[in-house]
Amino acid sequence: MEKLCDIDGLRHWRRRQARRTVGFVPTMGALHDGHLHLLDRAREECEVVLASLFVNPAQFNDPEDCASYPTPLEDDLALCEKHKVGAVFLPEEKTIYPDGYRFRVVENDDSHRLEGEFRPGHFDGVLTVVMKLLQLAQADRAYFGEKDWQQLRLVTGMAAAFFLPTEIVPVPTVREEDGLALSSRNRRLSAEGRQKAPRFPRILREAESAEAARTGLAAAGFTVEYVEDREGRRLGAVQLEGVRLIDNLPLAETAAAKEAS
Ligand code: PAF
Repeated sequence: MEKLCDIDGLRHWRRRQARRTVGFVPTMGALHDGHLHLLDRAREECEVVLASLFVNPAQFNDPEDCASYPTPLEDDLALCEKHKVGAVFLPEEKTIYPDGYRFRVVENDDSHRLEGEFRPGHFDGVLTVVMKLLQLAQADRAYFGEKDWQQLRLVTGMAAAFFLPTEIVPVPTVREEDGLALSSRNRRLSAEGRQKAPRFPRILREAESAEAARTGLAAAGFTVEYVEDREGRRLGAVQLEGVRLIDNLPLAETAAAKEAS
């Protein structure tokens, strides 16, 4: 596995893969099984996998949240190696933002709703870094988890709007046995919080409407940011012990749909 830290190194590596299909998995590190599924899927569908590990300051509203983001680099590299990644891109902030954040990708609609309402500017930060990474990777396919549903939809929309040649591939959410969606943030929960957290996806699934889910979650002790049914999915975000948890599922899998059928 090659470790690439600068743009020249990445471009040189990419030129050497010219005859192979390249699958790209962008991450912020702190890899968990959800990321490993992305890497495995990329490995199944492409001849070589490129992963990036970069904690992107532009997508954090709270600088402290960014500063305290876990960066277990050695563990991440060992996992990439184990999952047959061909190269890992490990840029520094100045490598990705040589313009000092002067240029940005801005989306004017959905990026302001739901996650965007609670994390102003978050999606502009995500879209900007993803655009830069996709331009650098020049991959055939790039893999994104369905857990971050709005992110997936916005990245897919951006790739289409800017005629990017990379196919954006959605990968289903990976869950713990108790139903909690995997997330790097889960490790911030206390043992008690971790026990309670699976009630979030359960209530999302079992509630007969978004409103019933909001009421049920508040009664179960979560601070509800939003629950909304849209485009055939139920999306929700809550806080537990100050940790944000987000999740979504197809409406067809909720109690509402089951009652109706
Ligand atoms: O989903 C993530 O981990 C990040 O938002 C991404 C896509 C790597 C961009 O920083």
